[in-house]
Amino acid sequence: MKVSVIGTGYVGLVSGVCLAEKGHQIVCVDIDRDKIEKINHGIPVIYEEGLEKLLKRNLNGNFIASTDLRQAVLESDLTLIAVGTPFDGQEIDLSFIREAARQLGEILRDKPGYHAVVVKSTVVPGTTDEVVGRALEEASGKKAGEEFGLGMSPEFLREGMAIQDFMLPDRIVMGGIDDQTLEMQDELYSVFPQADKVRTSNKTAEMIKYTANALLATMISFSNEIGNLCAALGGIDVVEVMQGVHLDKRLSPILPSGDRIRPLFTTYLEAGCGFGGSCFPKDVKALIAHGRKIGRPMTLLDSVIHINEQQPRQVLNLLQKHFPSLKEVPVAILGLAFKPGTDDMRESPAIPIIQGLLAQKSQIRAYDPVARREAQKLFKGAAIDYCDSLEETLDGARAVVLLTRWEEFGRLPEMLTGRAEAPLFIDGRRMLDKRSIARYEGIGM
Ligand code: UGA
Repeated sequence: MKVSVIGTGYVGLVSGVCLAEKGHQIVCVDIDRDKIEKINHGIPVIYEEGLEKLLKRNLNGNFIASTDLRQAVLESDLTLIAVGTPFDGQEIDLSFIREAARQLGEILRDKPGYHAVVVKSTVVPGTTDEVVGRALEEASGKKAGEEFGLGMSPEFLREGMAIQDFMLPDRIVMGGIDDQTLEMQDELYSVFPQADKVRTSNKTAEMIKYTANALLATMISFSNEIGNLCAALGGIDVVEVMQGVHLDKRLSPILPSGDRIRPLFTTYLEAGCGFGGSCFPKDVKALIAHGRKIGRPMTLLDSVIHINEQQPRQVLNLLQKHFPSLKEVPVAILGLAFKPGTDDMRESPAIPIIQGLLAQKSQIRAYDPVARREAQKLFKGAAIDYCDSLEETLDGARAVVLLTRWEEFGRLPEMLTGRAEAPLFIDGRRMLDKRSIARYEGIGM
């Protein structure tokens, strides 16, 4: 199938390259010439494991990047819209998607025959039909659902696992206002015969995406609230509590062999310094704002965000329990990215924690296997010593704070034993065994 994709960000580029790998003919379009040039030279512009290899394999074959939207649309049967939908502090910013729809509509005006438009960007319920559909109709002079198709198919990729998630989807959600759009998506996704497919309306497809992320974010804040209570009560460790909870057979089913399935879902039922990234905070806030706009405040989700915004504070409180003044105290920060496997620092809990330490004039040494450059951009000019290795970061530290579950931090117990003066260790992710480190403190205990 011939497909054009608008946007070469995370969702656009990964979808484009993976669909090309699966045999479709893909043109990814972006207004940024520099980006397009790089992509066409095999440089993927975002870091995602396996992406470069797939891109290089499909260039000059099924995949090409271009700045020419007109040609891409005229020569394809279906267009995926995968532009950014940031949260502007008040509500979801739809300006990019509106503009994409307007330009697309102008091209559809001149295109004979049927063309399907499918939104892949995360948008609040109603956007595809009311905003995208209307903009397309106005610019094309044609009727949605009759002269062109309109669908919505959200993406469920995790950063760091995007290729794997796209190639082995757990579900494919397809919304559409007419049968032909749904049939064309059937053909597009026929390359994933094993995936469960949901055929629904555009509005429901949009809601599925938000609900999925809101649920996971709620699980995290729930675990953090329980963890904070455990810490306040004293003598209870949230890790043990959650281990007991995870053994509920509805969370970890028991097979006839007696073995347990441990679903990934339970990894969202763990206490820590909070969630970050480009999706959970933005999506939950956008949904809350949308609810408020239509007169439906969402008090549970309000609390999910409130708890998450307070959570980095727990780490600072633990530090201050031992150092009432943090002035000039050498603190080693381990992990800057919002989660392992990425250099992304958007909404990372490390940001407010470092800001708190800077305000108190601590001596900050920081280490992250890949996010150093991002941190340097973000904290331009700030008094932070970036280190090249774990060993170097620990040198002279009186407090060590773990904020991201990088695998190499598993070496810490061994590295910290036998030191003349054991530093205070704060496990912001409850990653390590508390018995393996001398002066261990963690969230939720
Ligand atoms: C998330 C969803 O997991 C994807 O299904 C979804 O497609 C994606 O958002 C999106 O909307 O595009 P992602 O943001 O890549 O994916 O990250 P996750 O791996 O889900 O982690 C999110 C945050 O939750 C991280 O900061 C992580 O450290 C934190 N987390 C996770 C916790 O604080 N506690 C946990 O128990 C688990």
